[in-house]
Amino acid sequence: MKKSRIHTLRILSGIQPSGTIHIGNYFGMIKKMVESQDDGELFAFIASYHAMTSVKDKAILEKNIFEVAVNFLALGMDPEKSTFWVQHDVKEVLELYWILSNHTSMGLLERAHSYKDKTARGIGANHGLFSYPVLMAADILIYDSNIVPVGKDQIQHVEMTRDIANSFNNTYGEIFTLPVSKVDENVQSVPGTDGAKMSKSYGNTIDMFGSKKGIKKQVMSVVTDSTALEDAKDYISCNVYKLCQLFMDEEELKTMQNRYATPGEGYGHFKLALLDKINDHFAPYAEKRDYYMNNPKMVKEILENGASKARKIAAAKMEIVRDAVGLNY
Ligand code: ADP
Ligand code: TRP
Repeated sequence: MKKSRIHTLRILSGIQPSGTIHIGNYFGMIKKMVESQDDGELFAFIASYHAMTSVKDKAILEKNIFEVAVNFLALGMDPEKSTFWVQHDVKEVLELYWILSNHTSMGLLERAHSYKDKTARGIGANHGLFSYPVLMAADILIYDSNIVPVGKDQIQHVEMTRDIANSFNNTYGEIFTLPVSKVDENVQSVPGTDGAKMSKSYGNTIDMFGSKKGIKKQVMSVVTDSTALEDAKDYISCNVYKLCQLFMDEEELKTMQNRYATPGEGYGHFKLALLDKINDHFAPYAEKRDYYMNNPKMVKEILENGASKARKIAAAKMEIVRDAVGLNY
């Protein structure tokens, strides 16, 4: 019997180099991306254009791009298996961004939660921030992506991508593949040290790498209630316990629950247990991280190879798009 051809799904996601990546990024997205290298064809990029909405300093942007690349490679991104590049090395996305802008209603962009949240927090609104989802749609559609693994906050952007693609396809024919987002139901939103969503822009993060002292300081600053040492504590609502859930197995969590229920220990003790788990979890990746940190030329080469693979696909897609809209005259 003839074997049917297996269609590999293209999995694509991006991360902004807008600061040091943290355990929220890891559990919300990076881990899933790295694991998905065995499920399909992984396309992963560092969203340098998107980061410009918040980073306005050349040296910081360059440093962030390098560090995000190093962290991804250390955590298991395999450039032999996957395509890994920096967004601005494939300039075709900017052309598609403009073309798609003409299929994006103002109302759609005005409804974007991330834009509304950022402006509500006083981040000055400019056109880059407002039109951010259109560039994200270009990133996804130019590579005919099927699956987009993201954290919960990005689901709406993927939905908007579908709306934009539908609008374009209705006008010019079936040019774009409609993507679906993939969210890990178990880890929708990792809480930060203040209990709100952990985010680079909220100053409430816990790092994966870096100095032991620094990570300890972050873990010890996790906000808890003021239940006294001699009283039993509630684990369900506790931020420390919520973070433990990311690192501990069933048995270890049971032990923690017993410790919460037994008077005599304070939150400081639980935080130290969490700290040990965090350090243990990321220790195996530290050596690889040091290696790439000390070999910036190799990192650059990996990203350039990735960009040339990605560019080929983007350029071919843009030929089709230009032809469809009348820009091949
Ligand atoms: P940040 O909010 O720290 O700037 P990004 O917006 O760059 O993070 O997000 C990068 C990826 O990590 C996205 O897929 C996002 O959904 C995910 N992510 C970010 N913060 C969290 C969190 N606290 N919990 C789960 N996923 C997260
Ligand atoms: N907006 C995403 C974030 O902040 C980053 C991103 C840019 C992205 N383009 C993308 C994610 C395309 C997935 C697909 O996390």
